[in-house]
Amino acid sequence: AKKIILDCDPGHDDALAMTLAVASPKIDLLAVTTSAGNQTPDKTLNNAMRMLTLLHREDIPVASGNRTPLVKPLETAGNVHGKTGLDGADLPDPDFKVQDMPAIDLIAKTLKESNEKVTLVVTGPMTNAALFLRVYPELAKEKIDQIVFMGGAWGFGNWVPSVEFNIYVDPEAAKIVLNFGIPTVMAGLNVTHKAQIMKDEIASLKNIDNPVGQAFHGLLNFFEIYHDEEDPRWGFKGAPLHDPCTIAWLIDPDMFKAVKMNVDVETEGELTRGETVCDYYRQTDKPQNTTVLLDIDRQKFIDLIMKSLKSFSK
Ligand code: BDR
Ligand code: CA
Repeated sequence: AKKIILDCDPGHDDALAMTLAVASPKIDLLAVTTSAGNQTPDKTLNNAMRMLTLLHREDIPVASGNRTPLVKPLETAGNVHGKTGLDGADLPDPDFKVQDMPAIDLIAKTLKESNEKVTLVVTGPMTNAALFLRVYPELAKEKIDQIVFMGGAWGFGNWVPSVEFNIYVDPEAAKIVLNFGIPTVMAGLNVTHKAQIMKDEIASLKNIDNPVGQAFHGLLNFFEIYHDEEDPRWGFKGAPLHDPCTIAWLIDPDMFKAVKMNVDVETEGELTRGETVCDYYRQTDKPQNTTVLLDIDRQKFIDLIMKSLKSFSK
């Protein structure tokens, strides 16, 4: 199985990404680290631990990361994910302890203990990933084969006109990660807006007879209301499942259409700070550092989610 570390800010879609990783025999989730993003760092940590408790995977070590982005103050997304960052279901209180070390040290420890290369999956702002690369550059080059992240887009945004939320929160961190030299895979809005779960599909989760399925019935109902009913600007018929695209790519890359190109991050722009600048037409000689996911077989993706949720015991 592919060994991964998940750095996340749960977050409804982060929680589903974690769940797909735990459910898949093709993935070995070695550690979870949390970032400030969708909610404040204490809340995202608590949510990650509540999810691992629900999934009966308290054995997976968890550590909390940086309290704020590298340069700008933290901006959260309570409007999307609610007060707790994971509103919509009653999740069990965590009954295990967070690791007594910062996220970057847990990443380092996990890499050192692994005899194989590990994939770093980032589904929140890239603060922890950037710090890790700055503090442990040699270890990163030796042990991380790729960084698969949800963030950015080729051409549009969801927080300001041309900027996606995760990159918006910490553009400097994203710039460090993309320019570090480890290959990256970008699940940006081009693909994640096509990875929608429809209302009737969310309703059908009610029939999944285990606590994980039941929890996601509540969670995704909450998440869907923001995207569809409260904010019709999106024109969605369901909810875009951004973060699970990263794990789906690792499980079955054939589900996606992807193109390699250079991606860099604008950190100065008055209107565009945080934009992922995608060199699709090769206007520069900069390295093709990123595999950009552009399309998805939505039905296969939903089938994977349903199969994963059904796989948990009663
Ligand atoms: C990203 O922002 C967060 O709200 C989601 O969890 C996802 O990682 C989408 O822009
Ligand atoms: Ca996220």
